[in-house]
Amino acid sequence: MRNVLFVSLGCDKNLADSEEMLGLLVAHGYTITNDETKADVAVVNTCAFIHDAKEESIANILEMARYKEEGTLKVLAVTGCLAQRYKEEIIKEIPEVDVVLGTTSFDDLLKALDQAFEGEKYLEFKDISAMPEIESKRMITTGGHFEYLKIAEGCDKHCTYCIIPKLRGKYRSVPMEKLIRQAEYLAEQGVKELILVAQETTIYGMDLYGEKSLHRLLKALCQIPGICWIRVLYCYPEEIYPELIQVMKEEKKICHYLDLPIQHASDKILKRMGRRTTKEELKQIVSDLRTAIPDIILRTTLITGFPGETQEDHEELMDFIDEMEFDRLGVFTYSPEEDTPAASMPDQIPEEVKEDRQAELMELQQEISFDKGNERIGKEVLVMIEGKVADENAYVGRTYGDAPNVDGYIFINTDTELMSGDLCQVHITGALEYDLIGELKDEYTK
Ligand code: F3S
Repeated sequence: MRNVLFVSLGCDKNLADSEEMLGLLVAHGYTITNDETKADVAVVNTCAFIHDAKEESIANILEMARYKEEGTLKVLAVTGCLAQRYKEEIIKEIPEVDVVLGTTSFDDLLKALDQAFEGEKYLEFKDISAMPEIESKRMITTGGHFEYLKIAEGCDKHCTYCIIPKLRGKYRSVPMEKLIRQAEYLAEQGVKELILVAQETTIYGMDLYGEKSLHRLLKALCQIPGICWIRVLYCYPEEIYPELIQVMKEEKKICHYLDLPIQHASDKILKRMGRRTTKEELKQIVSDLRTAIPDIILRTTLITGFPGETQEDHEELMDFIDEMEFDRLGVFTYSPEEDTPAASMPDQIPEEVKEDRQAELMELQQEISFDKGNERIGKEVLVMIEGKVADENAYVGRTYGDAPNVDGYIFINTDTELMSGDLCQVHITGALEYDLIGELKDEYTK
């Protein structure tokens, strides 16, 4: 029996791949360990999105390489986006690595590890448009009550700052029957919230069915017993379509929540970024969504310090955020990535300026978020319990407006015993900058 230590880095799409690999390993007799000194094999599933993510991936590989040098670890495998992007460098610079698999080759993992235990390196980079096929059931690592469902791979948008199309290939939807089977399995395992992810979820089905089909997929997923909430992340604003809004209004299980990455609001910067919307169009999309679904919670992300971003562009973005009042906001500083058009654009912005602009945007958002939280005081809301606060009679949970790991929480003081995944009716009594405070109602549904 072999012990495997698995490190999953990067985004929730990559986590879905990690869980597929873990399922495969466990189905074939591997035991998972978190103890580096007891592992026979380590797999590092990497990210290469921005500079910091690459550093983190390399640091993790080097840490595992040390255990190999010390003799406890026998095999070291590297998978995921960094493996796809820097295969030659990894092979050449880190000789302790035995297995390198590209993003479309992780289904070779078992074979690769067997070969590596025989003392032979295994490197595989299948065509970037392939789809890995793993028959075993994926392993749930999120805690069990929510899980990511990766509905498509790749991206065709080619924003000028983004390396992902080179790492993940063209957009390929996962067939609907396969997703429904996977969701049914997750529901049988106790998952209550499905979170639909892809580089872009809104165009799901265009390649397979000739038309946008996310609304059909959502309708089918709503029929699965045990699934209580369905949340959609990563919707390109220009791709939002009427049937999607309609199904969100009709189906009670679909959270009134959308993650709508806009990246900027200055038309000049949006154009340089290769985005397909203007500021006026973005305003219209947000307003249409709020008219159609008044209690919708909108999340967005921004990139600050993109090449050529002037102080005026930044102020335009600040004014836009002030006016739009997104409920949730993430701000990244621009990171120039090799082989992307933006990296060689003139007028790159100094790091301190990027960071100052990021801080200003976050400060503004903090006020917006605090005001919005205060407006919710006195309301009742359904909450999914995440877990207990250590040493206190209090629990932490999320409302329909909070995606795990990126949004806020609600804290509930109660003597009632609750479990993670319980759904409770909660009365909102207070607001912090990003979080809420609430009281459990007498009647609650577990
Ligand atoms: Fe990173 Fe690859 Fe995801 S680059 S963000 S792990 S798609």
